[in-house]
Amino acid sequence: MKTRAAVLRRMGLPRPYAQSLPLRIEELELAAPGAGEMLVRVTAAGLCHSDLSVIEGARPRPMPMVLGHEAAGVVEALGPGTVAFAPGDHVVFSFVPMCGDCLPCAEGRPALCENGAAANTAGTLLGGARRWCDAPEGQMNHHLGVSAFAEHTVVSARSAVKIDPALPPEIAALFGCAVMTGAGAVLNTARVPAGASVVVFGLGGVGLAAVLGAVVAGAQPIVAVDTLPEKRALALTFGASHAVRAGEHAVAEIRAITGGGAAYVFESVGNEAVLAQAYAATGRGGMTIATGLPHPTKQFSVPAVSLVAEERTVRGSYMGSAVPRRDVPRFVALYQAGKLPVDRLLTHRLRLQDVNEGFDRLAEGQAVRQVIIM
Ligand SMILES: NC(=O)c1ccc[n+]([C@@H]2O[C@H](COP(=O)([O-])OP(=O)(O)OC[C@H]3O[C@@H](n4cnc5c(N)ncnc54)[C@H](O)[C@@H]3O)[C@@H](O)[C@H]2O)c1
Ligand SMILES: [Zn+2]
Ligand SMILES: [Zn+2]
Repeated sequence: MKTRAAVLRRMGLPRPYAQSLPLRIEELELAAPGAGEMLVRVTAAGLCHSDLSVIEGARPRPMPMVLGHEAAGVVEALGPGTVAFAPGDHVVFSFVPMCGDCLPCAEGRPALCENGAAANTAGTLLGGARRWCDAPEGQMNHHLGVSAFAEHTVVSARSAVKIDPALPPEIAALFGCAVMTGAGAVLNTARVPAGASVVVFGLGGVGLAAVLGAVVAGAQPIVAVDTLPEKRALALTFGASHAVRAGEHAVAEIRAITGGGAAYVFESVGNEAVLAQAYAATGRGGMTIATGLPHPTKQFSVPAVSLVAEERTVRGSYMGSAVPRRDVPRFVALYQAGKLPVDRLLTHRLRLQDVNEGFDRLAEGQAVRQVIIM
């Protein structure tokens, strides 16, 4: 079938993207779903900084690629042997497909699925196939098994989770990345206990979802750090108890607020220098949690003795250490009960053709989550 999709052919084009147009809306041929796959009509797709990092070239991926990984849709057709879904099912995508067979999957850590990671790096679906056709050259890559900036997409059934059809698509999409990553980092990776101190560096979709997760956990204080005053003001309305301006004085301020350093400090910028500040703002016995994705060449170092003498922990958190089939319904239930107001992350609704302007806005920090309504 033919479908319209936003295609990235070259990374590293200059801003503004409204002029350089890194993403072009093209009519592509989409092959029928293979074994264990399904055709999904995309209903809403969010713009995440990880998409922006691919556009910038900070997170290199095989080109050309149909971008987008935070989205919701409705199943239209099943490939042979796909049994867990039926046409008409509403789904949220998971940006790491879980094979179910590798050791991390067997251990209940599907965010670390080895076969899923290999497929994502190669730009294929979980089974190794590509369903986008780019005539005449042929190969067109999938983004994290999802490729959601498109009217239709084909995914592995292991890249999707069924959701309540009553959920509005533009809200449902947010659970696929921002919520799973930010709330998951707090509730799964760090397992923050009630009354523990939390700091969040970087108040985008991921960081603000972490603030919401910290509120659910009952953390106190919750210190929100960003360079932009609007983001800090927003975090206070999300339930942060303190806001600190990012910069050279931030660590000292945090140490004063938390009485010597926080128990849990989250980095959701994707900058190794900010990760170093997060480590410096963590207290004795505390945990520093990295959710941001810096360029693969960047390094991070700590005073080695502090790990031992202060019993410090540094943890990475990929996809919020989520088990999507457990956590998407769990976080949706918290949202529907009014306890995780993730709709507040949604700042803009876009059309597919506005996607380049949307990434300009994200790069300038003028948006939290912008969602394309298909
Ligand atoms: N771990 C995962 O599974 C996962 C999933 C999604 C996104 N990510 C990564 O998380 C990061 C955040 O993503 P996002 O979509 O929330 O991004 P975003 O662009 O919406 O937010 C980033 C925020 O950081 C702020 N910031 C910039 N420099 C700062 C500094 N020096 N100190 C403090 N704040 C600063 C910006 O003003 C902005 O508010 C990115 O690196 C992204 O690639 C990781
Ligand atoms: Zn994302
Ligand atoms: Zn696996």
